[in-house]
Amino acid sequence: MTEISNSKPNRFEHLKFGFLNLFRISDLEFRIFSSILLSSFFLLSSPLFAAESKHAMVATADPHSTRAALEVLQKGGNAVDAAIAAQWVLNVVEPQGSGIGGGGFFLYYEAATKHVYSFDGREAAPGDAYPEMFLDPKTGEPYPFYPSRITGGLSVGVPGVLKMLQTVHDRFGSEAISFGDLFLPAIKLARNGFPVSSRLAKLIDQEKDRLKLFPASAKIFLDTKGDALAAGAILFQPDLAGTFEWIRKDGIDIFYAGDIARDIVRAVRTAPFHPGLMSFPDLENYKVNERAPVRGSYRGYDLYSMGPPSSGGLAILQALQILELYDLSSLGRSVKGLHLLAEAQTIAFEDRSRYLGDPAYSQIPLEKLLSKNYARERSQEINWEFARNSLRGKLHNPNLEGIHTTHISIVDEQGNMVAFTTTIESVFGSGIVVPGRGFVLNNELTDFDLIKSAIRNPKSAIHPNAPEGDKRPRSSMTPTFVFRNGQPFMIVGSPGGSTIIGTVLNIIVNVIDFEMKLADAIQAPKLIHRGEFIEMESGLYQQRKILNGLGKLHHTVMLKESFGNAQVILFDLARRVITGASDPRGEGEAKGY
Ligand code: GLY
Repeated sequence: MTEISNSKPNRFEHLKFGFLNLFRISDLEFRIFSSILLSSFFLLSSPLFAAESKHAMVATADPHSTRAALEVLQKGGNAVDAAIAAQWVLNVVEPQGSGIGGGGFFLYYEAATKHVYSFDGREAAPGDAYPEMFLDPKTGEPYPFYPSRITGGLSVGVPGVLKMLQTVHDRFGSEAISFGDLFLPAIKLARNGFPVSSRLAKLIDQEKDRLKLFPASAKIFLDTKGDALAAGAILFQPDLAGTFEWIRKDGIDIFYAGDIARDIVRAVRTAPFHPGLMSFPDLENYKVNERAPVRGSYRGYDLYSMGPPSSGGLAILQALQILELYDLSSLGRSVKGLHLLAEAQTIAFEDRSRYLGDPAYSQIPLEKLLSKNYARERSQEINWEFARNSLRGKLHNPNLEGIHTTHISIVDEQGNMVAFTTTIESVFGSGIVVPGRGFVLNNELTDFDLIKSAIRNPKSAIHPNAPEGDKRPRSSMTPTFVFRNGQPFMIVGSPGGSTIIGTVLNIIVNVIDFEMKLADAIQAPKLIHRGEFIEMESGLYQQRKILNGLGKLHHTVMLKESFGNAQVILFDLARRVITGASDPRGEGEAKGY
């Protein structure tokens, strides 16, 4: 069936960073990108990777946040409460990935009504944003993506996660714990400090030149000599603790219409690098949107995911509905099976690039894109001898895609479920910490497209994902629920920018088509196609044979050590067991009771 070993759970203790190197391998007769490892790579056993329970389960990217969420559940809180506590703890222990300065998408299944809700707390562009805002006035060209465009005030969107979590707590939180008290575990950790992990130390080191531009950021994450905090050093965040404490006592208005709002605006507009456009009314007027989730079916399973402005739900549903037309489980990890997996993703990414953006600004033909007929029509375009897209354009530093953003999956004793993906976009977002407030501001506006023809040609329509005032940039976040016969089957999501889509897709296929156990499904090397070329995790495939075969189909393949950091929960209704798994590529923990 597959070539995936049933090896015992492992942990990728060190994240891998590399640079791309295009070269020719004489005996393979095709070009291959390969990332060259710059850091060590150890696989260590971890008892925390996967867990089974009977009643409730939490999977997050860090043991501190998993513990905080479990404590909330054990005190009588529900999945919504637990997810909120986990988010604030993640803000402390993964300050590079998500937090109060960012945005997210929250999917909620209410067991009593069997209804799925989805909430959009995506960052919005300031009202003064405009399509050319990321073009260098001197050259007319877009600012280079890394490190220029992603750094400073210009890329900061109006943060939405705090208001979204207040909204979901008001609607669905239990009465056991107040919204304010859900900050307590994070306040304690921010005040008392915690040892910097090897992953966080590497990420600070990687971003230290950006963090140095902003004294409030350097003060927290660098030492007095300007070096990154080392692994094991204790990271104290008293300013962040103070911000949380203040919101706990006085409520979220101080963030959206009070002193903290004023501090955010000042930090953005007076940033020493790329000062931005955000104004006080942008924060005051920020709205959380409740949206209909996107829905589809795959081999008898029903899926619910996040709709626009996320492209994630639509893209996985489109790709799955193409895959459904073939016997993927028989094809397995053969060259033909992998070619199919790649082509289905390519087609979905083509539509993503063409149509997806903030639904308030353009017509997105959701019904057509999600229809089985359309999947059948597009599947006819698959050429079994020739890759659809071999190499198109350049990726910006794609090795960094797997490590920003974070995901939380939770089910409580009542069967309520949360899939919550949350982000500040790049690692350490814009690089700006709001002085005196201790939190990092996102750089989500870098998720806008800078399509030159749409920006420069006054006759052409603005691209659905070009920057505009108050618009939300297209996301790839894919918090997803899978049901079988009306019963919960899986909760899944991952970080990783536009690789999120492929990560979630691979895990779903591994479980449904290849009938893998959850631990194997999450650990198996993934094949991702984002419309340009194949990106494949190395390791467990019969790599040379596969690469030769894909090369003969004219695929370009980039081997990567890892992407994603999925947090997954799977329900075995027959055995009445809940399994949780936190991706061994990260440092997280799945735990239940
Ligand atoms: N920040 C990643 C995304 O929204 O796709």
